[in-house]
Amino acid sequence: MVVIRGATTIPCDQKEEIQKAVGELLEQIESRNGVKIGEIVSIVFSSTSDIHSYYPAKAAREAGYASCSLFSAQEPDIEGGLPLCIRAMLFVEKDFAPKHVYLRGAKVLRKDLDKFNVAIDGPAGSGKSTVAKRLAADYNILYLDTGAMYRAVALYALESKVDLENEAAIVDLMRTLKLDVVYENGVQKTLLGERDVSEAIRKPPVSMAASTVSKYASVRMKLVEKQREIASKMSCVLDGRDIGTFVLPEADFKFYLTASPEVRARRRYDELTAKGEVVDFVELKAEIIRRDEQDMSRALAPLKQAEDAVLIDTSDLSIEEVVAAVKQKMQEKI
Ligand code: DC
Repeated sequence: MVVIRGATTIPCDQKEEIQKAVGELLEQIESRNGVKIGEIVSIVFSSTSDIHSYYPAKAAREAGYASCSLFSAQEPDIEGGLPLCIRAMLFVEKDFAPKHVYLRGAKVLRKDLDKFNVAIDGPAGSGKSTVAKRLAADYNILYLDTGAMYRAVALYALESKVDLENEAAIVDLMRTLKLDVVYENGVQKTLLGERDVSEAIRKPPVSMAASTVSKYASVRMKLVEKQREIASKMSCVLDGRDIGTFVLPEADFKFYLTASPEVRARRRYDELTAKGEVVDFVELKAEIIRRDEQDMSRALAPLKQAEDAVLIDTSDLSIEEVVAAVKQKMQEKI
């Protein structure tokens, strides 16, 4: 006898959602384990206390699981637990190494089984990095700020007094680039050689320079290779411009955040002035618009929404609301 475990989530407490999610979960458990319905002796479901509208066991019965015994129970409320979650335990009359299956938002429960990646793209000031940091902290996974890598290249070029528009000179410079991304207490630090440049790369002149050097294939490919390598090893949230379209087209969850230029410029202005920078709002807004144009019009991996990314306009939303919207979408995406 083998016991296979699985879990999934639903976007809202509705009969149809429960039926769909249960059918999908059982089908995936069967296909990934090579199990046939007749070999299943019993299925025990438990669902979180926010699910009332249907019994998962009933949904399973209707989906054709009629020959095995079925049981549903409700879990007690757990502070901070994953909401709207259905768990299943299948007892199978066979002997093999089981593959446990965690789908949709429940992927975050078993990072040890399957790593997952969340891609968040969008223009400057759309809220990507704040939301990405929050998600990474909530799910206890890595946050990779890919913009920081382009910024580090830009800082290196600026300090080396290389003409940013001279592609050949930038290509040359890339040969001596020693860029590293390390983590200290879960916080990303960007290193140029031994030097921690995490603060220096946030200075306003570096933003436009990062956008300019990011046009070049030699820069992009070197950084993309590093980003893919990190993402292939562990679950992480990556934010940038081309994560969903180019870096990780197979990412489990994809989001595209946007906001009006006015709102984005206001956020950047508040961020910079809080750090004591003296900036002109009108200039900042014009620069953000210019940077958007440059990022959207470059030939290689331009800023654009992936076809399968969820679009969220954050103009009138608080951080809490954006995080909630992202998590809600993760509940329904297989
Ligand atoms: O997200 P940010 O403002 O730190 O990014 C700085 C610049 O780096 C951005 O204007 C374009 C470039 N970039 C990119 O081309 N691809 C990414 N994945 C991330 C950033």
